[in-house]
Amino acid sequence: MSKFVIFSLSIILLISEGYGVVHKTEITFRPPGRHQEYLKRKEITENGGAAFLAFKQPIVDADDMIYFANITIGSPAQTFQVVLDTGSANLWIPDSTCRPEEPTTTAPTLPPIPAIPDRNCPVFCDGLEDSGWRHFCSSKCITPDHYKKIRNNPSAFFMEPPMDEAAEPDACANKHRYNSEKSDTYEKDGKPFTLAYGTGSAKGFFGIDKVCFAPSKLCIPDQTFGQATHLAPFFANVPVDGILGLAFPAVSVGKVTPPFIKAVEEKLIDEPIFTVFMAHAGATVKRTGGWFTYGGLDSDNCGDIIAWEPLSKVAFWEFKLRGVKVGDYENEDVVDAISDTGTSLISAPVAVVENVCTFITFMQILN
Ligand SMILES: *[C@@H]1O[C@H](CO)[C@@H](O)[C@H](O)[C@H]1NC(C)=O
Repeated sequence: MSKFVIFSLSIILLISEGYGVVHKTEITFRPPGRHQEYLKRKEITENGGAAFLAFKQPIVDADDMIYFANITIGSPAQTFQVVLDTGSANLWIPDSTCRPEEPTTTAPTLPPIPAIPDRNCPVFCDGLEDSGWRHFCSSKCITPDHYKKIRNNPSAFFMEPPMDEAAEPDACANKHRYNSEKSDTYEKDGKPFTLAYGTGSAKGFFGIDKVCFAPSKLCIPDQTFGQATHLAPFFANVPVDGILGLAFPAVSVGKVTPPFIKAVEEKLIDEPIFTVFMAHAGATVKRTGGWFTYGGLDSDNCGDIIAWEPLSKVAFWEFKLRGVKVGDYENEDVVDAISDTGTSLISAPVAVVENVCTFITFMQILN
């Protein structure tokens, strides 16, 4: 199962409340054009005459696996690459004081090492190292040696060549780090935070500064964000500095209002919506691999017909999934699902996954 958590950046959260009640999001449309608001926005967003346009932010597509964008923090601006993650609700970046995590921290729980590789794996598991099909293979298809490396560092699964087992990577190295002393708009907060993702944790303390969805001119003044002082080794091999959560305050660690929600609350944008367009570029890094658009629809990539799905809970972007269908397999059980831009994989109940995979495997063998 280790591979199913590899790029899941979603916050681990035990959702215990009942699912019965359906809420629409509380955010409502605001009639645009009120002069005071316009002036305030013009001043804050530095957007001049374009104040009523949506703010477009290009994203980079790395292997269709990770999509990330630039943000800036502080004045003058310091640039960071972050995952725009609808599966979490905090913004954090590495602090200038970031250093490797102490080895005492508990490693993510992963299944035990299988004794001997199972030779009965489907044919496409052969040549695992360079085969795109490796994502579909069970852990039984991996050699114990490789598995040990993955256990020490889950992202080693995707690495060529595999990680050196002995070396614990410094996740803070080779990342842009935020220096609060170089920002005129920085304010201290200092409260500690720990963000536990499926793949490891980030911890540090909160600070307050201006945050911009670069290169758009959408800037949120006085945004609280995490200054990470320790990062789990997993983050060493992820080509981003940090994560910008786009979910709701209900799942925000430290009850911090996330940047987009703050932009809505402070009426920095016309409409309380954002759109996501992710390109499909294949095994390559594509500079403009899509767009996030804030405050309006992405008119280039959205069609004329818009379907609205009510949120079943205003926490993650959570909604009722009415069924699953792949080929002949059909399951019409209604389940709650979240739309998570920060993960490269679809996760579902085991029974559903097994049925879907059986069908996909069948199709691969046929082809
Ligand atoms: C992000 O910022 C860097 C440095 O300013 C720049 O070179 C790069 O082109 C930017 N990328 C995007 C996607 O805007």
